[in-house]
Amino acid sequence: MPLVGIAEIVHHAKAGVGAFNVIQLEHATAIVAGAEAAGAPVVLQISENAVRYHGALEPVALASLAVARRAAVPVAVHLDHATDRALVEEAVSLGLGSVMFDASALPDEENVAATAEVVAHCHAHGVWVEAELGEVGGKDGVHAPGARTKPHEAVDYVARTGVDALAVAVGTSHAMTTKDAVLDLALIAELAAAVPVPLVLHGSSGVSDDNLRDAVRHGMKKINIATHLNKAFTGAVREYLAGDPKVVDSRKYLKAGRDAVTREVTHLLGVLG
Ligand code: G3H
Ligand code: ZN
Repeated sequence: MPLVGIAEIVHHAKAGVGAFNVIQLEHATAIVAGAEAAGAPVVLQISENAVRYHGALEPVALASLAVARRAAVPVAVHLDHATDRALVEEAVSLGLGSVMFDASALPDEENVAATAEVVAHCHAHGVWVEAELGEVGGKDGVHAPGARTKPHEAVDYVARTGVDALAVAVGTSHAMTTKDAVLDLALIAELAAAVPVPLVLHGSSGVSDDNLRDAVRHGMKKINIATHLNKAFTGAVREYLAGDPKVVDSRKYLKAGRDAVTREVTHLLGVLG
């Protein structure tokens, strides 16, 4: 049951699918432990920013794949927010079953052309592709919760690119540390009714538990959460270090961070249903 393709998780999910970002090994093991405690499948995702942090995709991807293979629940490993096509190709060759190619900063026609080429390559290798239309803000630290994806453009975009899932702008923004994003639930319902592939909510750290439930109820399928887990991790490490200022063994405080992430993942998977 361990390592599966994301399609297997998303298409069989009766509720929302939690997709959580891995930065270091502790995130991967914590997220899987949280999913096991919840008895739910989960997606481990590695962003291009995390790849930049490590200097390469391979170490973090192979570690995440290994953690997934040992899991007691279905786990998919996904490349998140890739803007570099060479990185997508590397992910495919390393055995990741899905990628997000993010050309949302490009004008729509260029986004369509670049994404369609990535889809052709990935589909030839059996790899699932998520893309984004209507740029979800906050990737550069500038919050832009006002962006919106237009349903008719989303339908046209999916038809022309052949993507398997679509990230849409419905009121969230990346990297929020407060939960006050206001979701456009009517638009989520409209998009879910019109778009023939699963919808993805990015920037979900800024969304309250009640609004996450509403988003899923209105048709959101894959829910991406990163900052919220980093906040939990860092808060627990900070608390441990304050309580034991002489600690030297990094396992002691990293374990505190890891346990905090596990608890949050179990909680969030319960919220998503
Ligand atoms: O792709 C990753 C997510 O959109 C995470 O966003 O850090 O705001 O939760 P977040
Ligand atoms: Zn995102």
